[in-house]
Amino acid sequence: MTILVTGGAGFIGSNFVLDWLAGCDEPVVNIDKLTYAGNLENLASLQGDARHVFVKADIGDYDVVLDLLKNRHVRAVVNFAAESHVDRSIHGPEDFIQTNILGSFRLLEAVRCYWNGLADAEKQAFRLLHVSTDEVYGSLEKTDPPFSESNQYQPNSPYSASKAASDHLVRSYHHTYGLPVLTTNCSNNYGPYHFPEKLIPLCIQNALTGKALPIYGDGQQIRDWLYVKDHCSAIRRVLAEGQVGQVYNVGGWNEKANLDVVHTLCGMLDELQPRADGKPYAEQITYVTDRPGHDRRYAIDATKLERELGWKPAETFETGIRKTVQWYLEHQDWVNNVLSGDYQSWLDKNYAGRDA
Ligand code: NAD
Ligand code: DAU
Repeated sequence: MTILVTGGAGFIGSNFVLDWLAGCDEPVVNIDKLTYAGNLENLASLQGDARHVFVKADIGDYDVVLDLLKNRHVRAVVNFAAESHVDRSIHGPEDFIQTNILGSFRLLEAVRCYWNGLADAEKQAFRLLHVSTDEVYGSLEKTDPPFSESNQYQPNSPYSASKAASDHLVRSYHHTYGLPVLTTNCSNNYGPYHFPEKLIPLCIQNALTGKALPIYGDGQQIRDWLYVKDHCSAIRRVLAEGQVGQVYNVGGWNEKANLDVVHTLCGMLDELQPRADGKPYAEQITYVTDRPGHDRRYAIDATKLERELGWKPAETFETGIRKTVQWYLEHQDWVNNVLSGDYQSWLDKNYAGRDA
């Protein structure tokens, strides 16, 4: 049998494909449109490995997806493909609507058509796992309990609204057509191959190149951080043992204010690669104009996943962030390749207008 992964050249998707094939021999068909965020270099170690088939395609291309499902006799789909960056969704929501809503819809249609044609036993065993985010639940006050699976959806950015729409579509395909779906809503990931537009890799890279470490607003916004390999293990567990139609929240029990995260990164870099002038990297911290509509706090209650499926993260924030900083120090070639292309124009668009 084979699984089909979408968005498998992005940050989490590529970590998932690498971990999957490190752990078993079941082949992976990986479809990715290779937007600015997709990078085949992440999968370089799989070159020549017959268990990995890469196809450059859009999840919204119904015919291509349906052909692949049929020809490869796929038994499960894991949908990572999405536009994923909140700031980009504020500057230009259209791509988010196209991929996260329309693309997910067309993917669901192709999967429904394929699934309808399967024999009964295969139909029973088939799964579509949709990878989503905690941002669909909106923003928490300081003393609110963490998000549980029954929290109301209150998305606040075009990104989270588009993810919420895709979650609802996935839910409806189960309710209406009986499609065997699973949904995971995860908190902020970090780790290898994280595109340096996001807070952690951006600050590591800006620190190393002597640039400002931009803190939006007062830096007291809180996120729950999960090492990407732990997210991948949670997805594998849900895919294998999750109850059809259910939603599982995934988180690291690591609530941190952004400013604390950046101070941790600075301290780790001071230790592992001190500045040439001997000064602390924290001197590069710069407060800039806040993100419009910035959610104040996310926190995930992952007890359902632990109670029902026995999953727990393996990394603490301290162990995961050390691995991450070390990875970036050892993979400066990867970073420099990623930073070419249109990355510079994104930095100008996002940061030039923010007063320090
Ligand atoms: P990413 O932006 O790094 O990767 C997305 C991948 O999807 C890229 O390889 C891109 O080329 C591909 N893609 C985009 N549009 C496509 C399309 N129309 N067809 C096919 N491929 C397309 O994102 P990520 O951080 O790896 O996130 C993966 C998924 O996990 C997303 O659905 C995101 O919403 C979700 N998620 C991310 C986080 C996080 O912290 N990064 C947390 C929770 C959930
Ligand atoms: O919560 C899960 C979500 O986490 C995922 O669904 C998204 O795909 C992923 O991008 C991430 O969204 P965030 O907006 O939380 O991640 P980001 O790294 O962009 O920002 C993290 C926090 O840091 C957020 O509060 C904004 C802040 N920030 C970010 C950047 C890029 C800054 O203060 N300065 C920055 O330059």
